[in-house]
Amino acid sequence: MDGGFTLARGLTAGGFGGTVTLAGAGAAEFVAAAEATPGALPAALAECGGVLLIPGMGGMAEAPELLLRLSRLFGPEVENYRETGMAPNMIHPEVPEIFVVSNIPPVCRTPPAMPDPPLTAEGKFPVQFPQRRGWHSDQSYRRPPPDVSLFLGVRTVPRGQGQTLFADATAAYEALSPEMKARIEGLDGLHISGGLGRRREAVLAGTPAPALKPSQLPQRQPLVREHPVTGKRALYMCEYGQMDWLEGPIFGMEPGPHGEGAKLLEALMAHCTQERFVYVHEWTPGDLVIWDNRCTLHAATWFDAEHEARVMWRTTVSGNPGALYAGEAKSWLVAAE
Ligand SMILES: [Fe+2]
Repeated sequence: MDGGFTLARGLTAGGFGGTVTLAGAGAAEFVAAAEATPGALPAALAECGGVLLIPGMGGMAEAPELLLRLSRLFGPEVENYRETGMAPNMIHPEVPEIFVVSNIPPVCRTPPAMPDPPLTAEGKFPVQFPQRRGWHSDQSYRRPPPDVSLFLGVRTVPRGQGQTLFADATAAYEALSPEMKARIEGLDGLHISGGLGRRREAVLAGTPAPALKPSQLPQRQPLVREHPVTGKRALYMCEYGQMDWLEGPIFGMEPGPHGEGAKLLEALMAHCTQERFVYVHEWTPGDLVIWDNRCTLHAATWFDAEHEARVMWRTTVSGNPGALYAGEAKSWLVAAE
């Protein structure tokens, strides 16, 4: 790699993801080297299918602007959460481009539930939908959607809990049958934020969905996205918590949790999250994981929030969603409200 970095490809046996290191470098040296060769890390991310692990970045916890500087290499816009309405307790007090994911004060966010049952029939850690839930691409309810997320393990929990799972949506698309590829060509999913009464559970329970502000409306996104850098096609979808289960989840197909759209989405999600496409990241403090939301899905997992404290920092980078979105105003900042 340019810049003296070393790239070890293949976080999974199938070759998905990669690990980038710079011999002898702490976080400050790593970021300076990355800035000196600004194309190197984005190129590595694209080459590895959209997931990069950079271990040893614990120094960022003492110098949070280093995470922001590294984030800026992945695109023109790094979201400032103070400007986009995030609750103040979830925003880093010094660097508002960092949002804090944590179970301890002041954030107090509850981790996902354990799968039910907790293990697969073979006694293994479950990754596949629907036993594993929560698969999504970040902020897919926005148009244009973001490109890349960076996630730093500041304080992590023991191995075996609090993992982050990543699915290779490019490989999953390529593995579809020709018939399925033809069937989903041109279809759009209908995405919406989870807190707006249109999650699958809310619709199944018959809870009346509240009226939506213009900035909250469900957004159509292609079920198959062409990556603007690699040109490769990938499945682009979420599941129960981030699709519109009232009018969707697939635009133009029979809606609702028992409709034809739901059957198609659930089949694709189960396909995409097969073990062969999934990387399970067990966190070590100082790990930085970077993922491309345009061609990967991810899911958080349970950890023992009663006894463990977890602090993670996230940034979100956007600005290159692909030609489909050219010239679009930001759906979440519409002026009409
Ligand atoms: Fe996420």
